[in-house]
Amino acid sequence: MAITDQTIDLLSPASFAAGQPHETYAWLRDNAPVYRHAEPDGGPGFWAVTRYADVKAIGRDPETFSSEPTVMIADDTAVEIGDHKMMLMADPPYHTRLRRIINHEFTPKSAARLSARIESLCSAIVDEVVERGECDFMTDVAGELPSYVIAELMGIPLDDGRRLYGLTEIIHAAPESVAPGAGMGAVIEMFNYAHDVAAEKRKRPAADLATKIVHAEVDGQRLDDIDFNLFFLLLVDAGGDTTRNLLGGGLVALFEHPAERARLQAGLGTLLPTAAEEMLRWVSPVIEMRRRATRPVELHGVAVAEGDKVVMYYGAANRDPRAFAAADQLDVGRHPNEHVAFGGGGPHFCLGAHIARVEIHAMLREVLTRLSDIEPAGPVEWLPSTFISGPKHLPVRFTPGARTK
Ligand code: HEM
Repeated sequence: MAITDQTIDLLSPASFAAGQPHETYAWLRDNAPVYRHAEPDGGPGFWAVTRYADVKAIGRDPETFSSEPTVMIADDTAVEIGDHKMMLMADPPYHTRLRRIINHEFTPKSAARLSARIESLCSAIVDEVVERGECDFMTDVAGELPSYVIAELMGIPLDDGRRLYGLTEIIHAAPESVAPGAGMGAVIEMFNYAHDVAAEKRKRPAADLATKIVHAEVDGQRLDDIDFNLFFLLLVDAGGDTTRNLLGGGLVALFEHPAERARLQAGLGTLLPTAAEEMLRWVSPVIEMRRRATRPVELHGVAVAEGDKVVMYYGAANRDPRAFAAADQLDVGRHPNEHVAFGGGGPHFCLGAHIARVEIHAMLREVLTRLSDIEPAGPVEWLPSTFISGPKHLPVRFTPGARTK
């Protein structure tokens, strides 16, 4: 289909029904890199930014491009309660103070400390399917890992992690694809759960992230229940379906590129790190993040007014031929690969990036060695979301193998 101004609809889940709309992205990058996109229901509209250099520059300039009141396109998604703000939706210096509380738990060293535990979770997850010879890769494998990892980090039971993960899926779904009020209901359920966790960690402190947040102080003041709830929601939310979709979307990419898959499986020992980065570039599980212009600026000759919404399309930036050689080709050995799947390197750069990489490496290694002939067993169904991209269901089959324990 020829792309024209009339065919572009980045707010419709239908545009993402077969993965990200790469033809539309290419048209936008070439013809309207700062594109005025309408918003339904009387919203003011937004500027869609699709070139790599622009996405990077905007993400790194919080003074001009603010994350407040929200990083979602619709204004009613702002998560501000009184003068409390969620870290993801706050600007420096408030943001810096919040990030400092948990920064330490997310360094490469902290992530490396989790790796043995994450590897054993991966092998337990694959144990559950390996004898069956078939499964839904998304629900049975890819979705299990991040929910367990976040439960482990927060110090809550693994099964609760799974339940909370189900809530994040509802929160990220396009509103028209779930029952009316379901999104808000899921947030409330998450807050109620977080409230109980905070009470428990105050009573019985443990060596986990939840205990750390509950006892943290900002400017000499202890964080209160609302701050805790906002942290809890962000952490459960941010690390869940992003990692899951990377794993599922990455596997689909390997199915669609058999030569690259064979190359990776033959050289897993050396190619795993570059292959994981290439999957991040290719899949870009976070489709976009929004900012608000704090002053009038000009971008590619377009006048952006103070208060305008400016939306960075990471998936489009990651296929920009101005930044990547052979951008439309999957190359599991690509190097360098300065993708923006975790953000463009500004103050909100994905805090969980190191942990996500440990998860991705461990699960890819497990799947590509123990389910080595894994192949599609039916059509992929993609998530009905304009914010998070990845398969919802991915039926697969493989030669049954043996459990490790
Ligand atoms: C493949 C997996 C993941 C992807 C693609 C991803 C992507 C992103 C992106 C695009 C941002 C916003 C960056 C920006 O605005 O500059 C972000 C922020 C964030 N991510 Fe991730 N993420 C992933 C996994 C995780 C995991 C596993 C965790 C936690 C365990 C996590 C925690 C966070 C947090 C807390 C933020 C907010 C940081 C801030 O506001 O300062 N993410 N992530």
